Amino acid sequence: MKEILTHTAKETQSVAQQLARKLRPNSTITLTGDLGAGKTTFTKGLGAGLGVKRTINSPTFTIVKTYSGNIPLYHIDAYRLEDSEEDIGFDDYFYGGGITVVEWPQFIEPFLPTERLDLTIERKGEDERLIRCQPRGVSFEKICEELGQ
Ligand SMILES: Nc1ncnc2c1ncn2[C@@H]1O[C@H](COP(=O)(O)OP(=O)(O)OP(=O)(O)O)[C@@H](O)[C@H]1O
Ligand SMILES: [Mg+2]
Repeated sequence: MKEILTHTAKETQSVAQQLARKLRPNSTITLTGDLGAGKTTFTKGLGAGLGVKRTINSPTFTIVKTYSGNIPLYHIDAYRLEDSEEDIGFDDYFYGGGITVVEWPQFIEPFLPTERLDLTIERKGEDERLIRCQPRGVSFEKICEELGQ
């Protein structure tokens, strides 16, 4: 599994920005990590790479936010869906022609596409973060290998 250590929020964003440029439409990225790990920070970088001009912030009070860029960015924060088993129409995002990013994917596990890129972010120090990349499906293998290069 590919691992990358970043030392600043900016560095995390630039890893994400570079990743974004390699993603095909209808790709799903999951971001797993504790509160404050850097999931939304990573998403901001993805947005930059997709040409999103609006500010991306944490969608805690909305489950999904859609941003327009070169292709749409669907930002799902599943934190508040922990005790919900309802399908809110997830496939409209996953297969909506854009990139879907899911924070707290463990809460909507049954609905996630089996082909996806799983990222975990772990806090290693004040500003150090270990990003792990796990491809789910062959189409993401190369993308993981190249992460951070
Ligand atoms: N190397 C780094 N990578 C990412 N974020 C970092 C890094 N170093 C410091 N930070 C800071 O850590 C914080 C991460 O917050 P962020 O909102 O991205 O976390 P989150 O995982 O989305 O949390 P939540 O679960 O509450 O949504 C930001 O304040 C960011 O500036
Ligand atoms: Mg967040």
